[in-house]
Amino acid sequence: MCGIFGYIGNNDAFKVVLGGLTRLEYRGYDSWGISTLINQSINTIKSVGSIGSSITDGAGKQKAKVAIGHTRWATHGGVSKNNAHPHASTDNSFVLAQNGIFENFLEVKKELSEKGFKFISETDTEVIVCLIEDIKKNKNLSLKDAAREAFKRLEGRNTIIILDKNGTIYAVKNGSPLVLGTNDAHEYYLSSDALSFSDTVSKIVVIENFQLVEIGGNGPKLFDVQNGKQLSLSWQNLEIAGGEISKGNFEHFMLKEIREQPETIKIAVQMLDEDMLGKLKKSINKSTTVYTIGSGTAGVAAALGAIYLRKIAKINAISLIGAEANEYYNLFKPDDLIIVPSQSGETADVLETLEAVKAKNAKIASFINMPGSTISRISQFPFMANAGPEIAVATTKIFTSQAVWFYLLANFLNGTLEQAKEIALKTSGKLEDWFNSDALGKIENLAEEIINEEDLYLFGKSEYYQIAREGMIKLIEVANIHAHALPSGDLKHYVIAMIQPKVHAIALVPDGDLRSDVLNAVGQIKTRGGTIIGISPASHSEFDYFIEIPKSGDLTAVLAVMPLQLLAYYLALKRKKPIDKPRNIAKSVTVK
Ligand code: G6P
Repeated sequence: MCGIFGYIGNNDAFKVVLGGLTRLEYRGYDSWGISTLINQSINTIKSVGSIGSSITDGAGKQKAKVAIGHTRWATHGGVSKNNAHPHASTDNSFVLAQNGIFENFLEVKKELSEKGFKFISETDTEVIVCLIEDIKKNKNLSLKDAAREAFKRLEGRNTIIILDKNGTIYAVKNGSPLVLGTNDAHEYYLSSDALSFSDTVSKIVVIENFQLVEIGGNGPKLFDVQNGKQLSLSWQNLEIAGGEISKGNFEHFMLKEIREQPETIKIAVQMLDEDMLGKLKKSINKSTTVYTIGSGTAGVAAALGAIYLRKIAKINAISLIGAEANEYYNLFKPDDLIIVPSQSGETADVLETLEAVKAKNAKIASFINMPGSTISRISQFPFMANAGPEIAVATTKIFTSQAVWFYLLANFLNGTLEQAKEIALKTSGKLEDWFNSDALGKIENLAEEIINEEDLYLFGKSEYYQIAREGMIKLIEVANIHAHALPSGDLKHYVIAMIQPKVHAIALVPDGDLRSDVLNAVGQIKTRGGTIIGISPASHSEFDYFIEIPKSGDLTAVLAVMPLQLLAYYLALKRKKPIDKPRNIAKSVTVK
C-alpha cells in the first residue's frame, strides 16, 4: 500500500511532492514524510496524520529542486513519526521509501543485526535501507547497483524510491505500481499513479516489474534489475485531464461522485468497446467456466456480474473474492476466462490470483478505471470504465459502472445488447430525475432518525442481496456503523435471533418474482417488533420507512444502491466522520 512520489525540476520540489502526496493520499493517510535535497544535504520531515492537517510552516520554506515523499498505510510498525518514511541510511547519504511489503524482512533483519546494524524503526523498509548500505559497502558497488542487488533479495510486492545525496533519484518496481512522467519544462516525476501528476505531466512511461529508473542531471534512464542493462524508455501521451480532480460545488468527493452516476452509467453504454466484446465472446464460448473476481466493493460487482452472466447469458459463471481464491488455482484450465472489475487495476489479492490464471494459460478480461494499470496490461481483453477519477476512498460511481458493464456484457452474449443499452440509458435518465426529486431529503431525514443505531441489518435476494452487501460495506467503512448483510431467505436460520423491538433492518425488495420471498423476511422481522426501512420500486404496508426507487428492468437492483450510498454518506456527515478518507481504509490495496 502507500503512495510514493519523486520530483526533479526547476520548481519548489517540496511543494510539488507535497501536492503529489496529497493526491496519493487515497492509498494511505496515517502518516507521511518528504525528503528534500539542499546543498548536497538531505532534510527529511515526517508527520503523523493526513497531509492537510499537519503541514508545518518551516517545511514549506525549503526550496529544493529534488525531493521524494511517501504517504503511509501502516503494515509493519505502528503509526508513528519514527515509522513514517523516508528512512535514512546510517550516514544520511541516501533516504528510501517503500510501497509494498518486504515479506522476508525478519530473516534479513536478523542477518544485518548480527553484522551490527541498529534499527530505529519497526518497519521492513528500514531493513531495505540497511541491506543496500551493507551490499554497497561490502561489494564496493554504486548506490544504483547496490539497490539492484538488494532488490533481488526482497520477497513480496514492493516498489522503492531512493534519493541520493548527489541529487539522483532511483526507483525500482516489483508489483506495486510506478509511473515516470515528464513535460516540456523538462521536469521529471515518479509516482504510484499517473493521476497524481496529471495536471503538469504530458508524457509517461509505465515502469514494469524488475525495472530500475534513474533520474539524474541528464534526465531519466531505465535499467533491467536482473542484469543491469540499459533499456529504452517508451514514452506515451498521458490522457487524463488534471482539471477533473476537484470537488466542484460539493462538500465531499463522495457526494460529488454519487451524483455523477447518471453520467457514468451513460459513459458505460456509450464507450462500450463492442469490437473487443466480440473477441471476448469467442473466448467465453470456448471456456468451460467463466470466473469473476474482485475485492471489497469490486468483489460485490464481481458477484453481481456473475449473476447477470448466469441469469441473462445462461453461462456457468462463478464469482471469487480476491483473498479467497487459492483453492481455485488448481482448477483453472487453459480455456477458462476470468473477468476482473477493479477501480485501480492494482489490487494485490486479485493480482496474485491472476498470476495463477496466467500460469494456466487461462484468459483475463478486465474492466478498470485507472489508465495504465497492471491488471489492464496483463489482460487479453482490457476494457476501460472511463468514469473519470474517483477520489473518495469509498467507491461509488465505479461500482455502478461495473454493474452496468456486466449487464451489457451478459446481454451482448444473449444477443440482446441493443435493448439492454436502451434500458441502461433510460436508467441513467431515471436516476437523474430521482436525484432531483425529494429522495435525497428523505434519506437525509432518515439518517438523522437512525443516527445512533449501532447495528443495521440489510437483506435482499439474488442481485438485491449483492446490493445489500454493497450497502453494508458503505455503512461500515464510511459511517462506521456495524452492518450485516444477509440473503433474505437466511434470516430464519440465524439473524432472527437478533431481532427484537427497535432493531432496524433495511429490506431491498424487488418487484416481480423475487418480491414475495423478501417480503417473507420483512414479515418475520415485523412480527418480532423490528423496524423496516424498505427500498423498493413499490411500497408495502409493513415498511416503517419507504424509499422509492425507479423501476428499470434488470437494472432496478443497481438503482437500489443509490439510497444506501446516500444513507452511508449522510450518516457519516451527521456522525462527523472523515467522509472522503475513512479511518484505516485505503482506496488501492497493493499489499496482501
Ligand atoms: C479497497 C477499497 C474498496 C475497493 C477494493 C478493491 O478495499 O477500499 O473500495 O472496492 O479495494 O479495489 P479495486 O481497485 O480493485 O476496485
